[in-house]
Amino acid sequence: MKGIILCGGTGTRLRPLTLVVNKHLLPVYDKPMITYPVETLKSMGVKDILIISGGEHIGHFLEFLGDGSLFGVNFTYKVQKEAGGIAQALALAEDFASEQFAVILGDNIFEYSVPVPKKCGIVLKEVENPNRFGVYCDGKIIEKPAKPLSNLAVTGLYFYTPEIFDFIKQLQPSARGELEITDVNNWCLQNLDTEKIEYDGFWSDAGTFESLLHSSNWAKSRK
Ligand code: DAU
Repeated sequence: MKGIILCGGTGTRLRPLTLVVNKHLLPVYDKPMITYPVETLKSMGVKDILIISGGEHIGHFLEFLGDGSLFGVNFTYKVQKEAGGIAQALALAEDFASEQFAVILGDNIFEYSVPVPKKCGIVLKEVENPNRFGVYCDGKIIEKPAKPLSNLAVTGLYFYTPEIFDFIKQLQPSARGELEITDVNNWCLQNLDTEKIEYDGFWSDAGTFESLLHSSNWAKSRK
């Protein structure tokens, strides 16, 4: 299975930290954030990893990650020209993707490996503040609902098969002007064999000041 790490976007919630440095290269305790999704993919047996980020930062990822030999994996790189959403970034992986592939958001930190589903899968985690995330309830995901119907957040780790690329091609931007990963996931839930995997380890989306600090404290505590 191949893996894709999405590291584009503008990182507005972490300004001014992200005015110069890409969010996924900020420190989470003693390592740049992207190290964590790399380790998560590795722990699932992934060896070939595509890194997608904006043109202004892709060189920094190359400097830090190189060809992957220091990490025991192979990295390739692709530029997302503008931050048009997670699904738009994912569309750039069409030529790279294989039969089944894993996609992880570059700001997602998982304590340990996630069981790989047979085909497609979304990884869910019970949280106290579901309105910050996509929320799963009764076979459907609602993106950042004002009144969440459950406390099951959809984490940023997804398993797909190449059928999703044709769906993304006819996807329309949401009200905030982005191609939404939640639309892709709802389509998978309705049309493909998609497992819901409940994760019981530590999980964090380190994309806010609070969660970045929380993630750093967690990383420190396990040393
Ligand atoms: O972390 C889990 C959450 O991630 C999910 O629960 C939500 O359903 C999902 O939409 C996403 O929400 P966020 O608000 O955290 O998404 P954000 O815009 O912060 O983007 C997350 C990552 O996706 C970011 O760290 C890099 C990548 N990304 C994002 C955009 C908008 C790209 O590679 N390109 C992009 O254009």
